[in-house]
Formats: sequence, structure tokens, C-alpha cells
Amino acid sequence: MMSAQQMLKVFVTRRIPQEGMKILQKAGMCNLSVWDSDEPVPRAELLKGVAGAHGLLCLLSDKVDAEVLDAAGPNLKVISTLSVGFDHLAIDEIKKRGIRVGYTPDVLTDATAELTVALLLATARRLPEGVEEVKNGGWSTWKPLWLCGYGLSGSTVGVIGLGRIGLAIARRLKPFGVKRLLYTGRQPKPQAQEVDGEYVPLDTLVRESDFVVVSCSLTPDTQGLCDKTFFSKMKKTSIFINTSRGAVVNQEDLFEALSSGQIAAAGLDVTTPEPLPTNHPLLTLNNCVVLPHIGSATYSTRGVMSELTANNLLAGLTGSEMPSELKL
Ligand code: NDP
Ligand code: DGY
Repeated sequence: MMSAQQMLKVFVTRRIPQEGMKILQKAGMCNLSVWDSDEPVPRAELLKGVAGAHGLLCLLSDKVDAEVLDAAGPNLKVISTLSVGFDHLAIDEIKKRGIRVGYTPDVLTDATAELTVALLLATARRLPEGVEEVKNGGWSTWKPLWLCGYGLSGSTVGVIGLGRIGLAIARRLKPFGVKRLLYTGRQPKPQAQEVDGEYVPLDTLVRESDFVVVSCSLTPDTQGLCDKTFFSKMKKTSIFINTSRGAVVNQEDLFEALSSGQIAAAGLDVTTPEPLPTNHPLLTLNNCVVLPHIGSATYSTRGVMSELTANNLLAGLTGSEMPSELKL
């Protein structure tokens, strides 16, 4: 056990699953300060809370930039984020200061891929519209031309970013009878063989896919990738799905593509901003299904993410090997 003076200050920016908190408490080396709420920590409180901290446990909704790092000061050794995405972290600034970063790859891959498949099917087969019609009396009888959508059997699926989650999505979609599986990325992936994936230019993927699934990370290259030009190349019968980050999509252009019939439908688990304002134009469309960023939201996944985030943080504090360290 460390003495009170030796305890390392750790700021936790949100209430997190107890699995992680127990690990931090049991370690007996952290003087824990927690923003004890389910809502994001206000910026001013983040700047105050992080001051003098040795460790920061944060979420994807916390923008960790030079201002936060300056507010933390020279003690800060480790930032551990409860996410696999790290676009909220100013990596260059973090690297410059010699701070280590922990994140949560792999443990949320299955849950996120599962949710992506659920969203794709819900969007393509118009489940939210159907549920609504049952409730509002719109269901008058069985009608041959009513609430028809699109099926996966015999289709071409295009995955933008065949990383951990992209591959897990492809694996799950193939057994639905997908005929061709196209993918793009920075380079071909040997693991694509497993799903008979064809590495193609983005232009080919967008033009030929019946389902375009975005599962890449958000980077300067992918920011705004899905814009007017992108949607104009998609088939009128195609479905667009995004479970990566909202900023990969130009939402005004998506609205235009959906409302003009340029594409058939879209399913989004991620938006800009989050939450999407309830009066946002996308929410007026029947052919747009929006979920509140719940890709990894299973009880067990969030528990394991919490554990991993805590263990990454402790390893960063003690200068030992992290279970999942982001290579900077
Ligand atoms: P990976 O790093 O394994 O995969 C990211 C993929 O994006 C890589 O294959 C990478 O390709 C690809 N990529 C990068 N730049 C481009 C580009 N310009 N064009 C096409 N592809 C590109 O990460 P994960 O699969 O684990 O996670 C992916 C993302 O999913 C996360 O960054 C996060 O934003 C999001 N996510 C969302 C969740 C949700 O709740 N909706 C849950 C979990 C994650 P290459 O390998 O060639 O560099
Ligand atoms: C992530 O981990 O990046 C997701 O967006 C939430 O699990």
C-alpha cells in the first residue's frame, strides 16, 4: 500500500462500469477523482479535475487537446480511453509530451459488428417504419406492395475499412448469401481471403455495392469522405450504413441524397454532433434510421472495456506493459 503522499492522482471523466472502478480501487495506488455522472464532464470541470493528475481515464466525448494537457501539467503519464476510436485525442500533442495512451481494441469488435448487422437489416427491411405502422394503425391488411425493402441474398456489399470491426461485419454478412464482398483501405488485407474480399478502388466500391458499410477510423483522410460526389455514384437502390464516426459523412449531402431518392436508405449509429438535435432534418426522413451510438453497448462488452481501460491506466502509471497500448 502506498502512503497518502505517494498515491497517484487519477481523474475519471464519467461514471464507468463497476468492473473498472473495482480494479482501480483495489490497486491501492490511485487517489481517484471521478466526475460522478452519466453526463459528460463540462469542459471547465475537466480542466479543473485533470490538474496535477498522473492518469486520465476518459471517454470518446472528451476532447483531449493541448489545453487539457497543459491543464494537467507535467505529472501526466497516461491517458486511458474507454474506446477503440481515438480521434478525440490530440495524438501529436500527447506524443510530444511523452504521454502513453491505452485504448480498447478487439474487446468490442463482436458487439459492434453485431449492431452493424442489426442496423443494416433494420434499415434495409424498414423495421422502424413497420413497428411505427403497427402502433399508429397504418397496418390495414397484408399488402403486396407495402413496406418492401432490400435483401442481402445475391447482393454486393462494400466495406470501407476492413479493420477489426470491418472484417467481423463481413464475416457475419457473408452467410446471408452475399455474392460479392468488396473493400477499400490503405492497402489490401491478407485476412480478406477469409471472406473472399475483393480489394477495389473506392470509386468501384461505391458504384457497385448494394450495401455500403463504413467501418474505418476517423482521420484527416476519411473526414467528409462520404459527400455529394460519393452519394451521386451510389445506386438508387443502395443502402448506406455508418458505424464508424459521424464526421466521415457530410450530413447535408446525405440528407440531399436520401430526400431526392439518390440512394434508398441510410442507417447511422454515429452522427455529428452527438446527440443529433431532435429537430435535425435527417430525423424527418422515413428512410434514415439513426441510433444513439450504441455499437459496443452490451453489458458484458462495456464491462470488459471498463476492465481493460483500468488495466491500461494502471500499467501506464507503473510504467509497465499495457494490455492494449496505442502505438504513437
Ligand atoms: P481498425 O484500426 O482495426 O480499423 C480501421 C480501419 O480503417 C483500418 O482497416 C484502416 O485501414 C481503415 N482506414 C483508415 N483510413 C482509411 C481510408 N482512408 N479509407 C478506407 N479505410 C481506411 O479499428 P476498428 O475496426 O477496431 O474500429 C474502427 C472504428 O470503428 C473506430 O476507429 C471507431 O471510430 C469506430 N467504432 C465505433 C463503434 C460504435 O459504437 N459505433 C464501436 C467501436 C468502434 P488500414 O488498415 O489499411 O489502415
Ligand atoms: C469506440 O470504442 O470507439 C466506440 O465508438 C464506442 O465503443
